[in-house]
Amino acid sequence: MCGIVGYVGPKKASEVIIKGLKRLEYRGYDSAGIATINGSLSVKKGKGKVAKLESLLSSGVEGGIGIGHTRWATHGEPNDINSHPHLSDDGKIAVVHNGIIENYNTLKKNLSDRGYSFYSETDTEVVAKLIESFLEEKPEDLKRAVRLSLAQINGTYGLAIVHEDFPDQIMVARKGSPLLLGIGEGEMLIASDASAVAEYTDKVVYLDDGELAIIRKDGYEVHSSQDEALTKEVHELAMSLDEIEKGGFPHFMLKEIFEQPKAISDCLRGRINPAKGTITLGGIESVLDQLANARRIIIAACGTSWHSGLVGEYLFESLAELPVEVEYASEFRYRAPLIGEGDVMIVISQSGETADTLAALREAKQKGALVLGVVNVVGSSIARETDAGVYIHAGPEIGVASTKAFTAQVTVLTLMAIKLAQHRGTIEDKKAAELIRELDQIPGKIEHVLKNASGIEHISNLFTYAPNFLYLGRSYGFPVALEGALKLKEISYIHAEGYPAAEMKHGPIALIDDMMPVVVIAATDHTNDKMVSNIEEVKARKGRIIAITVEGNKEVENLAEFVTEVPETIDELTPLLTVIPLQLLSYYIAVNRGCNVDQPRNLAKSVTVE
Ligand code: M6R
Repeated sequence: MCGIVGYVGPKKASEVIIKGLKRLEYRGYDSAGIATINGSLSVKKGKGKVAKLESLLSSGVEGGIGIGHTRWATHGEPNDINSHPHLSDDGKIAVVHNGIIENYNTLKKNLSDRGYSFYSETDTEVVAKLIESFLEEKPEDLKRAVRLSLAQINGTYGLAIVHEDFPDQIMVARKGSPLLLGIGEGEMLIASDASAVAEYTDKVVYLDDGELAIIRKDGYEVHSSQDEALTKEVHELAMSLDEIEKGGFPHFMLKEIFEQPKAISDCLRGRINPAKGTITLGGIESVLDQLANARRIIIAACGTSWHSGLVGEYLFESLAELPVEVEYASEFRYRAPLIGEGDVMIVISQSGETADTLAALREAKQKGALVLGVVNVVGSSIARETDAGVYIHAGPEIGVASTKAFTAQVTVLTLMAIKLAQHRGTIEDKKAAELIRELDQIPGKIEHVLKNASGIEHISNLFTYAPNFLYLGRSYGFPVALEGALKLKEISYIHAEGYPAAEMKHGPIALIDDMMPVVVIAATDHTNDKMVSNIEEVKARKGRIIAITVEGNKEVENLAEFVTEVPETIDELTPLLTVIPLQLLSYYIAVNRGCNVDQPRNLAKSVTVE
C-alpha cells in the first residue's frame, strides 16, 4: 500500500524515481509526488497516476537526490493537497510515508498549539512538523530529530525524509511497512519494494521494524531504535527485468494468467521426484515432526490467499488427517483466539507484507504456536518472521488481481499435505505416487486450458453487462467458486457471490431468474451426482448456466448453456485447473467494460494497513 522510492547518486534523481514509481504503482495509484534537492527543495505532486506526475516534470528537475511516493489514501481523500511528499512549515523537510500514524490527531493538536500550521487532512503531515520541532532545539542533528519524532509516533510507518540543509542524505525508518536499501556503485536507493531498485542493483538490505537508516551516494548506515549502529546482512536480489515487465501482453494480469504453467513448474522444480514418489521441502524439513504431531493447524490469510487456504484445509484433512481451521487473518487476533503450544499456524501471503496476516502471525507466535509461511516475495516481512516455510516461487505478481500466486500457493499446500501424509502414514504409497505424478502433469494441463482462452472470451462477451453473477461449487470446487467471484468483482466491479452449491437452497436461490449467470464448478468426481442435482435446480429456475467441468462430463454438458472443459485430473488437484477459466472470464469481462484491469479502483496490491 503506497509505494516509496528514493535515490542519491550521480544520475538525475527525478528520472530514477519516476521509473521506480511506475514499477511500484500497483501498490497504490490515486496520487503521486516527488521531492528533489538541487540547492533548494522542490516538490511536485498531485492527484492521479505517475504518468501525470511525469508530465508535471516535463520541464526537467535537476538534482541527484530525491524521494517519491505513489499513494493509496488512508487519511484524507485523494487530491493534490493530500498527496505526498508533505512538508515542514519552513518548507525544508519533505516526508513520504506508507502506513498509518494512529495518534496523529493528538500530535497535530500539540503542534498546532505550538504554532505549527497544517494544510492537509493526512496523518503524514505531522511527521514533517514533528521533525522540524525537534530540529529547532538542535538544528545540526537531523538523526536526533527523526529519532525523537519516531518515539512519539504510534502506528505503522515506512518513512523517507529529505532535508534541504542536509542535501547529501535520505533518512528512512521502518515500523510495520516494508523498506529496503539498494546498494549501487556510487549510488544508493531506497524503496518499499525490490522491483523499484532491480534495474540498478542486485544487492539489497531489508530494514527491520524499529530501524532507522541514512543513505548517501557512497554508503549507508543503519541504527536500532536505541541508536546503536547495526551491521545488516546484504541480500542478493534474484529478480530479472523481464519478470517485472508486461512482455508484449496488454496487461500484467493476462501475462500472469499465461505464466501459470511456468510458475507451477518453478514451484515444483527440485521438490518432487515423480519416479520415486517423494517430495523434498527443505524449508520445513526441520519442523516436520512438530507439524506432523500438531494438535491442529490454523491457516490464516486474506483475500485470494485465504481461498487457497481453504483448498489447503480440504487437502490437509483428507490426506494427512489433521484438523484444520481457516481464519481470516483480520478477525483472528481480535477475538481472543485459543491457540498455543502444540498448534501450528500456516500463514499464506503472496506479498508477505499483508498487515492483518502479519498481526495474526505475531499473535500466534507470541502464544507459543509454531508459525509457518507460504509466501511468494523472498525476504518479505512474513517470510522473515515465520519459524519456517515454503516459498511458492511464482515470480513477481504485479496485477492487483492475484492469479499465479493462487495456483502456486495451492501447489505448495498440496506438496505439504502429501509430505505430511507420508510422514504420518495416512496415505498409501500408491496414492501419494499417483498425486505426485499428476502434479508433474499440471503445467501441461494448464497450457491446454489456456489454449481455449478464445472460447472463454466468447462467453465473456455475452455476459459483459450482467449486473450480478453467482458462482457455485462443492468440495474442491467451493474455494474456486469464491475465488472466481472475487476475481470478477475486484476488476470488473460486477457484484458476484461464491457459494457452496448446496447452500444455494438456503437463500441465494431466490436470486435466480433468466437474467442471472450462474457459474458452476463441476469437476470433482466424488461430488458429481450432487452437483448435477444442484445444476438441475438452477436450470429449473431458468438461470444461465456456465459450467466448468472435466472433458467428457456429458451430464453437466447437457444441462449447461455454456461449457468450458478442463482436462481430467485427480479430485484434489482440480482447483489448479478449474480456476484458470474463471480468471480469464473476469479478465475479458473487465476489459470489455473498459476497466483498468491491473489497477482496479480503490484497491492496492499489498494491504499494509490493518
Ligand atoms: O499478499 P497477500 O496474499 O497477503 O494478499 C492478500 C489479499 O490482499 C489479496 O489476495 C487480494 O485479495 C487480491 N487482490 C485478490 O486478487
